[in-house]
Amino acid sequence: MSWTRKHLVDIESLSADEITAVLDTARNFKAVGERVIKKVPALQGRTVVNLFVEPSTRTRISFELAAKRLSADIINFSAESSSLKKGETLKDTARNLEALNADIIIIRHKAAGAPHFLSRFLKARVVNAGDGAHEHPTQALLDVFTIRETKGRVEGLNVTILGDILYSRVARSNIWALTKLGANVTLCGPSTLVPKVFEKMGCRVTYNLDDALEGADIVNLLRIQHERQRKTMFPSIGEYTAMFGLNEKRLALTKPDATIMHPGPINRGVEIESELADCERSVILDQVTNGLAVRMAVLFLVNGGGKLPEMESQ
Ligand code: CP
Repeated sequence: MSWTRKHLVDIESLSADEITAVLDTARNFKAVGERVIKKVPALQGRTVVNLFVEPSTRTRISFELAAKRLSADIINFSAESSSLKKGETLKDTARNLEALNADIIIIRHKAAGAPHFLSRFLKARVVNAGDGAHEHPTQALLDVFTIRETKGRVEGLNVTILGDILYSRVARSNIWALTKLGANVTLCGPSTLVPKVFEKMGCRVTYNLDDALEGADIVNLLRIQHERQRKTMFPSIGEYTAMFGLNEKRLALTKPDATIMHPGPINRGVEIESELADCERSVILDQVTNGLAVRMAVLFLVNGGGKLPEMESQ
């Protein structure tokens, strides 16, 4: 076990050993989730706050369920009905939550760096649930967990990430996690959305989709982040689908057992043909299932970890 951190704010600063520690812990929690009694007392008496200032379905709900499975008290902060609307700052909001004895604050915010900012002055643990176009650490952790579970390893696999890389926090966190664990990462999409500068993160950039798919073990699709684009980066959605959408013919270029991934939400018929999202090579819903185990592991570890005798005795 090599986890000693108080916060999880990014993947960039984690070592391969720390990432592996989360994955191994999550495997134990996944086993707990398959038992009749799915709850453990690991965070009993702790208060967890879901401070989501941006929309979310998967991340918010799985953090809430993860906290409940660990027996913590969980508060779901609603930005729309909060005093943020009256001009209260993020700093004051977080300090008020801490004054109510919040032990762990999970934050999603449109500003890159918001979790790092909170971690500098809060005594509470801070977990990044997505900050602007910067990072989405637990998405990357559940993605590599799913790859390891499906393929038995991450090292040496060819992983193609296809779509809007420029505005994607999922892409950045995945690139860090995958390269640290020894995967070969290829990025592909319109040149306006996949700048060559990403090669500095240790991956390959190509604008030739056939080349990107040839021999891929994993294809991870990203949606177009309309909410983060300040101007149109390609002529039309139809053109994007024609040039970069995943269909049967293009999937045939990958390895016969290649796996399709997507962090969600999916734009069916845009980045992926609707039937492919539901085909047997798709692990999109497995990613969601694994997100629960990974988020239980993250909350457990930032809380200080320790032994879980209830798991050992099952
Ligand atoms: N993958 C992901 O972050 O989904 P949500 O925005 O629904 O949480």
